[in-house]
Amino acid sequence: MRASSAVLLLVLCLPVQAEEFRQAELERWQQEYRVVVDKGDKLFHGGLGNENTVSCDQCHPNAANTHPETYPKFQQQLGRVAELWEMINWCIENPLESAPLSADDARMIALQAYIKQERRGAELTPGKH
Ligand code: HEC
Repeated sequence: MRASSAVLLLVLCLPVQAEEFRQAELERWQQEYRVVVDKGDKLFHGGLGNENTVSCDQCHPNAANTHPETYPKFQQQLGRVAELWEMINWCIENPLESAPLSADDARMIALQAYIKQERRGAELTPGKH
């Protein structure tokens, strides 16, 4: 290895200095997060606009039995290892009789944010039943 390449490699591998976040930034990010969680809360409690008016909270009050901490895991309904959003779509298509949402749909992200916020603190146990 030429000396210049060695120096370049060394520079690239130096530990990246963690930026210290300013309080204002931290507050703004927390605020943005809260807005998304609140949006998910509304969607979860009847805000999805599905015709049959069935809502998530009827079967999962306070996000009970949603177990976000166990994903990804094998889901019998889907016949394969799936992510949380895919199981949410199973409920949107079946009990709610509505069209599934894409993974990056803002509503899908909000539903997951709400569910995970409600179940915060649960130990990560991917694959668990
Ligand atoms: C009529 C009742 C009902 C409604 C309404 C319903 N679900 Fe479900 N949900 C179920 C059942 C039944 C399962 C399957 C349980 C299993 O086998 O894990 C399930 C599973 C789930 C799971 C995976 C749970 C796990 O343990 O892995 C999530 C997440 C979930 N639902 C979210 C939602 C969301 C979000 C909505 C609203 C869009 C919703 N559900 C609406 C009955 C319902």
